[in-house]
Amino acid sequence: MLVLSLLLSGFSASAYAAVVVRQDACTLSASGGDDAPAFLEATAACATVTIPAGTTLNISSPLGMTGLNGVTINLQGTVKFNDDVAYWSDNAFRYDFQDQYSFWELGGTDVVLTGGGTLDGNGQAWYDAFDEDSTTPRPIILVITGGAGIRVENIAMIDSPEWFNLITDSSDVTFDNLTITASENSHNTDGWNVYRSDTVSILNSVIINGDDCVAFKPNATNVLVSNLDCTGSHGISVGSLGQYAGLYDIVENVTAIDIVMKDAQNGARIKAWAGSDVGSGIVRNITFTNFTMENVDNPIVIDQCYFSEDVCDEYPSNTYIENIYFNGVTGTASGSTVASLMCSPDNRCSNINVNDVTLQAGDGGDAKFECQNVVVAGNSATLFGECAST
Ligand SMILES: *[C@@H]1O[C@H](CO)[C@@H](O)[C@H](O)[C@H]1NC(C)=O
Ligand SMILES: *[C@@H]1O[C@H](CO)[C@@H](O)[C@H](O)[C@H]1NC(C)=O
Ligand SMILES: *[C@@H]1O[C@H](CO)[C@@H](O)[C@H](O)[C@H]1NC(C)=O
Ligand SMILES: *[C@@H]1O[C@H](CO)[C@@H](O)[C@H](O)[C@H]1NC(C)=O
Ligand SMILES: *[C@@H]1O[C@H](CO)[C@@H](O)[C@H](O)[C@H]1NC(C)=O
Ligand SMILES: *[C@@H]1O[C@H](CO)[C@@H](O)[C@H](O)[C@H]1NC(C)=O
Repeated sequence: MLVLSLLLSGFSASAYAAVVVRQDACTLSASGGDDAPAFLEATAACATVTIPAGTTLNISSPLGMTGLNGVTINLQGTVKFNDDVAYWSDNAFRYDFQDQYSFWELGGTDVVLTGGGTLDGNGQAWYDAFDEDSTTPRPIILVITGGAGIRVENIAMIDSPEWFNLITDSSDVTFDNLTITASENSHNTDGWNVYRSDTVSILNSVIINGDDCVAFKPNATNVLVSNLDCTGSHGISVGSLGQYAGLYDIVENVTAIDIVMKDAQNGARIKAWAGSDVGSGIVRNITFTNFTMENVDNPIVIDQCYFSEDVCDEYPSNTYIENIYFNGVTGTASGSTVASLMCSPDNRCSNINVNDVTLQAGDGGDAKFECQNVVVAGNSATLFGECAST
């Protein structure tokens, strides 16, 4: 009766579709083939989509879930991505940023991904196909894009072919209580990259991976990273920034607090390019507080001559670094250098502060604090010898 009266009064098919009552809850089951179409349909039609414990969805085509509004994905089981390397290189979502691509785009407003289950990136085929030095991109498991009010919580992510998460062109995004694990032979498996996004929180998570634990890429602003346990990573890193000529990169208002870094290449790090044909930018108001280092190669790093040491004197970085705080950094390095604050000439770093830094050299010898072209302030400044402010 309802349908008939709508049609008679001249509603178009799309207007009719809009009045169909959305279902409250849907439950997915495995079909034996590609489950992506059913998963997509469910998120379009239902407010809560449950993948029950014991169910493994086979994702063999891209999951485009942008523009959702008020959807909870209750992932109790597993979402596992097909490991057809050639298929994904032609069929995934593409990004200009570092030529990246992904299996899954999630965006919209008021979207929650939760439930205690697992996202399995099934990355071994990529680890086998590309060696450690390969720069060929591989799929990212999850990209939050066009999100404004997104929560990802209480799930595990394993074996991403490349980065686990990218947050781009979004605001108000929270990750809470994730367990991220990449196999030892994985590479480039960053935990999170935050790019062109504002108000992002990454909280209470455990990460075992083979690249940055969290990286703040161009135009990451107002980001909080709190209570992370990172093992095997390349650190909590700002950048690299200022790499591409003509672009202006901003990273501002970042707090990283209560972080444990184990067996990592870096702890708290900021890296920016110098050189004749590079970009520019600003890194401002970055605070690293309460970092505990265990066997970390470079616990504290500013490198404003990133991959450009030879030309840095002639062409200093155009990415300025100011109002930086390293507060309460303790533990051990793997070698003798425990902190390295290396800036470009010409006052490109300003207001750099170190407080309550107690770092030991891993070899039992004297800890080395290196610096260049920087005036260091704070109650641990004297560790940096002639760079200390007077
Ligand atoms: C997943 O579905 C694809 C497409 O139907 C199929 O080729 C593949 O064998 C399935 N994978 C598994 C593990 O069932
Ligand atoms: C964190 O998530 C796991 C499932 O991955 C869950 O078992 C645990 O209860 C969650 N912890 C909190 C504090 O919510
Ligand atoms: C970052 O923001 C600046 C200033 O708004 C803009 O010029 C630049 O293009 C942005 N960069 C990216 C990668 O969006
Ligand atoms: C620095 O950033 C923090 C967030 O990380 C913010 O609370 C604070 O207001 C900022 N300070 C300034 C001076 O912008
Ligand atoms: C950084 O925080 C300060 C203080 O809250 C705020 O005024 C400023 O706009 C923030 N910067 C950005 C880029 O959001
Ligand atoms: C420092 O961080 C560790 C965990 O990373 C936490 O257990 C400890 O309570 C924090 N210390 C302070 C003073 O907040």
